[in-house]
Amino acid sequence: MMDVGRHPKIKLLTFSEVEDIAGYVGNFKVRIRKKARYVDETECTSCGDCVEVCPIVIPDEYQEGLGSRRAIFLSFPQAVPSAYIVNADECLGQNPIACGKCIEACEKSCIDFDMKDEIINVDVGVVIVATGMDIYDPTPLNEYGYTSFSNVMTSLEFERLICTGGPLEGQLGRPSDLAFPKRIGFIQCVGSRTQDPERGNPYCSNFCCMNTIKTTQYLNDAHPEVESTVFYTDLRAFGKGFEELLMRSKGNGVKYIRGLPGDVVEDPNTGNLQLTVENTTRNRLENHSFDLVVLAVGAVPSENTETIRQMVSLSKSPSGFLREAHPKLRPVDTPTKGVFIAGGVESPKDVRGSVTQASAAASRASILLNKDQFSVDAITAVIDEELCKNCGICADVCPFSAIVWEKGQPAEVITAACTGCGTCAAECKFNAIEMRHFSDQAIYAQIDAMLEENPQESIVTFACNWCSYAGADTAGVGRMQYPPNAHIIRTMCSGRVSPEFVWYAFRKGAPVVLVSGCHYVDCHYIDANRSTTRRVDGLWDGLDKNGVDPGRLMLEWCSAAEGARWQHIMKQAEEKRLVVEEEMIQDTRSLLKEARVPGPRNPRAKDENQPADYQCLICGDSWSGTYQSDAERTCPACRSNSVRWIRKR
Ligand code: FES
Repeated sequence: MMDVGRHPKIKLLTFSEVEDIAGYVGNFKVRIRKKARYVDETECTSCGDCVEVCPIVIPDEYQEGLGSRRAIFLSFPQAVPSAYIVNADECLGQNPIACGKCIEACEKSCIDFDMKDEIINVDVGVVIVATGMDIYDPTPLNEYGYTSFSNVMTSLEFERLICTGGPLEGQLGRPSDLAFPKRIGFIQCVGSRTQDPERGNPYCSNFCCMNTIKTTQYLNDAHPEVESTVFYTDLRAFGKGFEELLMRSKGNGVKYIRGLPGDVVEDPNTGNLQLTVENTTRNRLENHSFDLVVLAVGAVPSENTETIRQMVSLSKSPSGFLREAHPKLRPVDTPTKGVFIAGGVESPKDVRGSVTQASAAASRASILLNKDQFSVDAITAVIDEELCKNCGICADVCPFSAIVWEKGQPAEVITAACTGCGTCAAECKFNAIEMRHFSDQAIYAQIDAMLEENPQESIVTFACNWCSYAGADTAGVGRMQYPPNAHIIRTMCSGRVSPEFVWYAFRKGAPVVLVSGCHYVDCHYIDANRSTTRRVDGLWDGLDKNGVDPGRLMLEWCSAAEGARWQHIMKQAEEKRLVVEEEMIQDTRSLLKEARVPGPRNPRAKDENQPADYQCLICGDSWSGTYQSDAERTCPACRSNSVRWIRKR
């Protein structure tokens, strides 16, 4: 912290809150509220004279409520800057007129109750989110008596209790009577690894076992007379030097009992605690008595994770921690370009893991910052200004806030922020958005090709690039047999699948259409697949209204590792196909023809003599000529036929 505070290139804003982050990679605009601390941090020498005269006494959050502080206080001894803060809610809030004792006591006149919050706007190129994690509150677990017995405490509280900077200044004493605890019991996995949401979280917090082992080792060294007993289900001591530490702890006489206590009961006369536990190694019920019980609690996402997640458009895992772009290959990147994550905000982790990840995030960020130019993926949305009707729906559905729109103005894509999911293109009712590389015309051409001959034998399958297409790959690599009738159209995300593609496939004679994508929380474009669900819901309704069996449209989620699931989906789709008779297909074709459901359309005039401008969706080259049909257009520069027509201005 000291180094950070002194570093010429680091501006440290403490006691501040990020209120808004707008913009995109290389161009983020951050609004920060620097809260009034009512003490001039440049002048304060943290002499402590003000603290001595402050009459307000409050439980100290830093000491986990085991100690107290005043309304004017230093957050923690190593705080940078080393300057006091006045909590206005506790001081000024309690007294309409401040008592002013601290002002009188401060020789350097650092205290100023007229200080106001300051709004700071900064422009930054990248953002690293490292807002940490919180500790699980074991209050709901009644059997451990956390709220009933003062000698039951969490591992973090115990950490403060034994710390030399803690409330007892390193002395060991239990909270109820400050008596020296000779027998201490540690209960592992409190609120962790449970499938019951009322009793905690399903994940392992990764650091609790080693924290307990380290604490027992410390007790052994500092207070050899203390007997420590650890109750556990599994001990997870993976990592450099961790197994050795566990062996040392066992060698020093710490008892490890496999089994978690069913309940903790206090002896009201002595304050001692009785535990009943099933020792699953010895297969017997045991009773143990302790002076102090420590609950090894896991971690939960910090309170503010959700706020920051929404500001920078990130996705989160089911447990609420922020999701990385790829768990193996891009562990500190996020789906939003220019935003990185580090530490407990990504998943529970120890100091070493956090430091490693923070260094990685800083390196990834510096790679971007040291470039003059930033290359983006070519797959981005392009808006046709003339077709855009300024409805703003595309901006609403974009998971990355990459489309800006103002009333009366055509929408505009921020190419640097666009990730190419295609949700906007699928949502646009006016065909005003085209996707580079995944253009409508390319997708219609694929549907045409697969239904050209024997359409009744084809299952038109839309698969997202990241999960379901990869799941199909996994099935193939694993030699998993499935019916070969599925013809896959790859899109970057299932959110790219426009309802028009599905209508068109049915109108062309497809017996079954399958839309597939990543499982809900796995979508690589935050929550773009929620738009898929909404659209498919609408399609099922529409099919029903048009007299077509909605069962012929399937929506399935499949991850990259689920080859067997892909095989199962394919078999199901084939079963459905086999019951769709030729007559039904023909009926659907004529029904949809009459219903005039949408299909591919070039909304422009097709006057062959009309002068026209074209732009290549691949290389961006533009040129002029006379009107050409979709099939005739080829880019003179890169020979691609992903070309869009631009009206002559
Ligand atoms: Fe697979 Fe969005 S990336 S559904």
